[in-house]
Amino acid sequence: MGSGKCMTLLTLLAVLGMVMVDKVGSQNYGDALSKCILFFEGQRSGKLPSNQRMIWRKDSALRDGSDLDMDLLGGYYDAGDNVKFNFPMAFSTTMLAWSVIEFGQFMGPDLQHALDSIRWGADYLLKSTDLPGKVTAAVGNPIADHNCWERPEDMDTPRTSYVVNQTHPGSEVSAETAAALAASSLVFKSAHHRYSILLVNRAKEVFEFADKFRGNYKDSVGQGVCPFYCDWGSYSYMDELTWGAAWLFKVTKEQKYWDYVQNNIPNLPRRVIRLVNGDLQAAKTFAEFGWDTKDAGINVLLSGLVMNSTSAEPYVPQADRFVCSVLPESPYKSVTYSPGGLLFKPGGSNMQHAIALSFLLLVYAQYLKKHDGSVNCGTFVAAPSRLEQIAKGQVDYILGKNPLGMSYMVGFSQKFPKRIHHRASSLPSIGAHPRHIKCKDGSPYYETLKPNPNLLTGAIIGGPDIKDQFLDNRTNAGESEPTTYINAPLAGILAYFKAFP
Ligand SMILES: *[C@@H]1O[C@H](CO)[C@@H](O)[C@H](O)[C@H]1NC(C)=O
Ligand SMILES: *[C@@H]1O[C@H](CO)[C@@H](O)[C@H](O)[C@H]1NC(C)=O
Ligand SMILES: *[C@@H]1O[C@H](CO)[C@@H](O)[C@H](O)[C@H]1NC(C)=O
Repeated sequence: MGSGKCMTLLTLLAVLGMVMVDKVGSQNYGDALSKCILFFEGQRSGKLPSNQRMIWRKDSALRDGSDLDMDLLGGYYDAGDNVKFNFPMAFSTTMLAWSVIEFGQFMGPDLQHALDSIRWGADYLLKSTDLPGKVTAAVGNPIADHNCWERPEDMDTPRTSYVVNQTHPGSEVSAETAAALAASSLVFKSAHHRYSILLVNRAKEVFEFADKFRGNYKDSVGQGVCPFYCDWGSYSYMDELTWGAAWLFKVTKEQKYWDYVQNNIPNLPRRVIRLVNGDLQAAKTFAEFGWDTKDAGINVLLSGLVMNSTSAEPYVPQADRFVCSVLPESPYKSVTYSPGGLLFKPGGSNMQHAIALSFLLLVYAQYLKKHDGSVNCGTFVAAPSRLEQIAKGQVDYILGKNPLGMSYMVGFSQKFPKRIHHRASSLPSIGAHPRHIKCKDGSPYYETLKPNPNLLTGAIIGGPDIKDQFLDNRTNAGESEPTTYINAPLAGILAYFKAFP
């Protein structure tokens, strides 16, 4: 009896819950797209332009590069701190550009903002590569920076510039920079032709430098970038070199870049090594795509160029293999899904994986559709619509269709993270509190349970744990910190679902 009544109540609650979740599910992808792109304005470093929309942020880091007599103003802070890490910044720029290349036609009025965001990255990457034989790897001493809870506008930690060169190379950061410049050149090809030419010419030079002077930047500027954005493992730059060549081939169609990819694709590292809770762990690269692993991205990108041609191998079979490593019903699945359906890979900041892998699924689905293709995973065949469905499921989860009914995008929907791990967002703005707040004087703002005073609209954070739980705790950076490489591929996905909800 008692348990029967309890069941009824539970059923009722479940139904109510479903109603709520469904309501959150009727999302406005267009609104999310606008916010997703707006987020990049909150990450801007340097002198802000007059059309800056996120106005609680002000000019910062106006002397960057001066330690080496360089102009390194501009660019993006990578996440919730105030360091400019070029490697993930370049990857974010590449992914924003790829978002526009595939889905810019669906962005409507947000296309211009997306272009501005790409240019903000590309302009800085041009400055970073202005001196032949040198590529900037980072600006800002990361240990000193992380030791403070300080607004970017107040920064007084050493803004050391870390630069790789011929004797101290860094092929991963250099090749990713080349990829970003090449991808950006394609974006600006028709509208800003001269800028586009400048970008592609620089991309070629930087790629040549990256290839000719090979090395891992951890051995050249270690302290400036490790352990934060280290590409661990030997030859771990081979995927960035191949990715850079793939982008240069897509943009220029020059045979030498094609040959480069063909010659090197068999030699890509088979394993990616990354920090998981302070320990180095290895994972197979074919099911990975992110700032340190380009394998799946290379295969998907090139599949779009060679599908149904005699050059389809190994790219199309490898892209298929990637898809079969992600689909939940696949016998080759190598990712995990939470009970609520969010894709998981080990390590913090999980949304980067859920979104980057969804982006590849969605892009590959478009290529397959163009060629009447599908993916054979052994026990079943996946149509492109299945790939799109998985990508949509991830985005819907992120925007609120999840067990907590929580949007993981700041400022989107009714319930979203209020205590994100982000210095500028959690400290009072310069407008509200003009007086300098010193390094350790920011600690109370870090520790408080109060919501952040400044909305970093559009920021997607690391996200819930594998049981779909989320405590909205500022001190848990793995769950509550936003990054530029989480948002960059999401822009493309949202544009697509805005057009095809
Ligand atoms: C090359 O880079 C290293 C590491 O950043 C630096 O110590 C060295 O001075 C640089 N050499 C030249 C010639 O710039
Ligand atoms: C093109 O290639 C895909 C992927 O290998 C295949 O599934 C599809 O049937 C091919 N389409 C045509 C028109 O041959
Ligand atoms: C937030 O997380 C930290 C550990 O990261 C923990 O010590 C603290 O108790 C948590 N606070 C809340 C309110 O959950």
